[in-house]
Amino acid sequence: MRLLLAALILSASSAWAGTAVEAIAAHKHLGVASCSNSVCHGASQPFRDSDVMQNEFAIWQEFDPHAKAYQVLERPQSKAIAQKLGLGDPTQAAICLDCHADHQPADRRGERFQISDGVGCEACHGGAEAWLNSHADRKVTHADNLAKGMYPTEDPIQRAQLCLSCHMGEKERMITHRIMGAGHPRLSFELDTFTWLHPHYKIDANWIKRKGDWSGVRDWAVGQGVAAENLLDLLLDPKTGWQGIFPELVLFNCHACHKLMKDNSWGPRQGTGLGPGVVRLNDANLVMFRHVLAPVDKALAQRVFEQTRELHRATTQSREATFAAARSLRATLAEALPKVAAFRYDPASLDAILASIAADGDRGEFRDFAAAEQVAMASQSVILAFENDGKLSKDQAGALRAKLDRLYDAVKDENNYSMTRFDATLKELRAAAP
Ligand code: HEC
Ligand code: HEC
Ligand code: HEC
Ligand code: HEC
Repeated sequence: MRLLLAALILSASSAWAGTAVEAIAAHKHLGVASCSNSVCHGASQPFRDSDVMQNEFAIWQEFDPHAKAYQVLERPQSKAIAQKLGLGDPTQAAICLDCHADHQPADRRGERFQISDGVGCEACHGGAEAWLNSHADRKVTHADNLAKGMYPTEDPIQRAQLCLSCHMGEKERMITHRIMGAGHPRLSFELDTFTWLHPHYKIDANWIKRKGDWSGVRDWAVGQGVAAENLLDLLLDPKTGWQGIFPELVLFNCHACHKLMKDNSWGPRQGTGLGPGVVRLNDANLVMFRHVLAPVDKALAQRVFEQTRELHRATTQSREATFAAARSLRATLAEALPKVAAFRYDPASLDAILASIAADGDRGEFRDFAAAEQVAMASQSVILAFENDGKLSKDQAGALRAKLDRLYDAVKDENNYSMTRFDATLKELRAAAP
């Protein structure tokens, strides 16, 4: 009955009100071994006349870090982190397994399920219990699969929610400043870039026919909006957003605190309106979302700017003021996100975005490393979109790629970040753009 209910809720896919984590856990997980047969997804070469390549397992196992995510927990680095937190063996610690494996409760694990498979197929595609036997049938539509609990990884909003549940943390699986303090690497994520780092899929005419539209720039834009929403949801949650008398520090700008005192590097940032010596929320995704929203709805983008400033101001006043400001901004984001997801970014709007990002640089907005890092990944998305639009000659594309490499170089080491160098490189990139 419970499963039937879950299936019913899921079948009205857009009406699914739960989180990505809940949707993934709605059905039993049968394990990677249930997908990896050589006539299923375990082929060594792509199949010729199949909708999908069928060598997904081989690609995942060989190239995708998700396949090794559990083994990471066996490393000395993980043992050291867990020891400092008093967690014991990290391969047994729920807080580590939540993100480094497909951590389902015992009653949601099929016979072939193995926790050591790490972030396996069903950690992203959803528990296969109800669709495993039917999904390969040519007569079965994608909508049928979704109704049976397959997760809509093609949908940018829902994909962003899924990826960010581990790559940023969410209420039920949180990466805290304490975990960072014990030595966990800082997390950073950009949906379009990360979707294409180790792909086991290709988007072609056949894919579009079955699953609808694809746009890398839209994915980038949507990813920023979902990350900004997630930041506010965490801040608004009294359990995860606060630790004792302090707010959860992982939501703030790391280098607001972690910098050398001799540097004297403070300077104003219009986007925060804050003076020197104040801890700032990490607003990198909010800054980026404002840029991608501008071509879609200028007034709404201006509202995001003002409400972000108001939120920064409220964090210097009180918890109540912070909650009120976060709620207003959260409502604006909820209004804006579907518009961004439905928008088609043409070359002119890309150009406008690049121009307004560069103008932000002139105003000193990329003083904070986290925002600069997002700009580098954003530039990559935009350049790729220019290339895909056929707007660039080979020489232009080569020149832009070289500038992009330099921009990435400027954000390679967060401990040696120089805004002046970054802004100069960003200007060069802008000048080389069509
Ligand atoms: C909210 C999700 C989340 C939680 C909780 C979490 N991790 Fe991670 N961890 C990640 C992600 C995502 C990465 C990869 C970061 C990247 O490369 O962008 C990572 C990377 C790591 C790395 C570096 C791996 C490498 O390849 O260099 C180690 C070590 C690690 N985690 C250990 C742990 C341990 C131990 C725990 C439990 C105390 C833990 N993690 C909890 C998400 C999480
Ligand atoms: C980290 C998340 C993640 C993991 C883990 C993962 N996938 Fe995927 N998979 C995706 C995304 C994202 C796409 C592309 C979007 C789409 O087609 O829905 C995709 C696409 C696919 C496709 C192509 C679908 C199509 O319609 O063309 C297949 C088949 C597939 N995955 C199978 C697997 C198998 C088998 C595994 C395990 C060996 C696996 N995936 C593991 C995220 C993941
Ligand atoms: C269940 C948690 C989980 C989910 C869901 C998840 N990831 Fe990951 N991801 C991880 C962990 C943990 C690592 C680090 C693994 C390692 O270091 O071996 C990682 C690593 C990666 C990396 C490698 C990063 C690098 O620096 O090379 C990429 C790319 C990535 N994930 C993309 C995605 C995308 C795109 C999605 C959504 C479709 C996604 N992930 C969903 C947990 C997750
Ligand atoms: C409000 C200030 C503040 C912010 C913001 C902040 N930290 Fe910290 N961080 C601290 C303090 C305080 C300590 C504890 C220092 C100690 O134990 O002596 C610390 C410790 C650490 C340590 C351990 C350093 C060591 O040598 O013991 C790491 C790593 C770390 N933080 C990473 C981060 C990351 C990553 C971020 C951003 C996501 C961040 N911090 C944001 C104040 C901050």
